[in-house]
Amino acid sequence: MAETLSVSQTTDRAAMYAELAPQIAAIIDGESNLTANLANIAAALKQTFGFFWVGFYVARGGELVVGPYQGPLACTRIAFGKGVCGAAYSSGEVQVVPDVDKFPGHIACASESRSEIVVPIFKPSGEVWGVLDVDSDKLNGLGDDDARGLTEIVRVLEKTFTEETV
Ligand code: SME
Repeated sequence: MAETLSVSQTTDRAAMYAELAPQIAAIIDGESNLTANLANIAAALKQTFGFFWVGFYVARGGELVVGPYQGPLACTRIAFGKGVCGAAYSSGEVQVVPDVDKFPGHIACASESRSEIVVPIFKPSGEVWGVLDVDSDKLNGLGDDDARGLTEIVRVLEKTFTEETV
């Protein structure tokens, strides 16, 4: 089934996330295929905000492995604790990086990336399952409204998780 999104294009990012989150919930609720849900979330975020890169890294075999994403070709594997993604995974805390050059150990998958937010994603058990990573090609391109909105969308995704699917 084709899906459509309707989000007002304004400068109010918080309002845009508030419009988008229930639409993402409607798209992924009732769909049991996790890859389909991750792919649709990445596409919905890219379509709504035009992010330079947006996608998922999932913990597999002791490291983070890239999952569905939108944007230029990315690093395939990231060690736990390395880069912004590894920091979010290992700490379980959202990482907001206004200037990637000032984040020690930032991994430059693409030289155009200037700012970044990474949100940890949790299993029902409370263990970190993976991360949602968003990159902007502008300095300070992402801020607290994005951190809050992306976290809200991650909570929507986590509601579809069961111990059997993640
Ligand atoms: N910059 C990330 C690597 C992933 S890419 O941005 C897609 C990091 O430092 O973890």
